[in-house]
Amino acid sequence: VSDEAFETLMAVADPPLIVLTTAVENQRAGCLVGFHAQSSMAPRHYCVWLSKANHTYRAALLASHFAIHFLAETDLDLAVRFGTLCGQDVDKFDGLDVDVDENGVPLLKACRHRLLLERVAVLDDGGDHVCFTTEVISAQTGHRFVPLRVSGAPRLEPGHGSEERALRP
Ligand SMILES: Cc1cc2nc3c(=O)[nH]c(=O)nc-3n(C[C@H](O)[C@H](O)[C@H](O)COP(=O)(O)O)c2cc1C
Repeated sequence: VSDEAFETLMAVADPPLIVLTTAVENQRAGCLVGFHAQSSMAPRHYCVWLSKANHTYRAALLASHFAIHFLAETDLDLAVRFGTLCGQDVDKFDGLDVDVDENGVPLLKACRHRLLLERVAVLDDGGDHVCFTTEVISAQTGHRFVPLRVSGAPRLEPGHGSEERALRP
């Protein structure tokens, strides 16, 4: 595979960045995600791919519900917080206004463009990310917004390299 050709093609997609949040036994977790997509129309399914290296992945394995927050281009500070820090070391929610939905999932009040999701299936295909397929419970958005895309956050250093493995296969 040509790395350059692959990177060029992937850059064309330039997905919007989201923050996925969840909670297990009152422990909150969340990370920045670029790998995500709608995957069924009826029922309405949404897939999110989480890195096996992430604290959020380990929480997600035990979680039934998630929220994803679509970041606006003015939300770079949230991208930095959720994409470069590790929830094992710091409370990423500290200092943020947070609501809790009926399933105990933390909602970032500053991000009104959200999907609330219930887990349907998990697929580990042997890659460094794992697919969480979810059903959309609710979609919430206020007004039109300009999304923060991968191309708008070029210098963020992820909290973990994708080659890290906190769990043994
Ligand atoms: C631009 C960008 C895109 C990212 N996309 C993903 C992704 O799709 N899935 C994922 O699990 N992590 C992704 N990450 C990495 C995590 O957000 C990052 O490693 C985070 O610090 C993990 O935090 P945690 O250990 O508290 O879960 C991305 C990071 C950046 C900067």
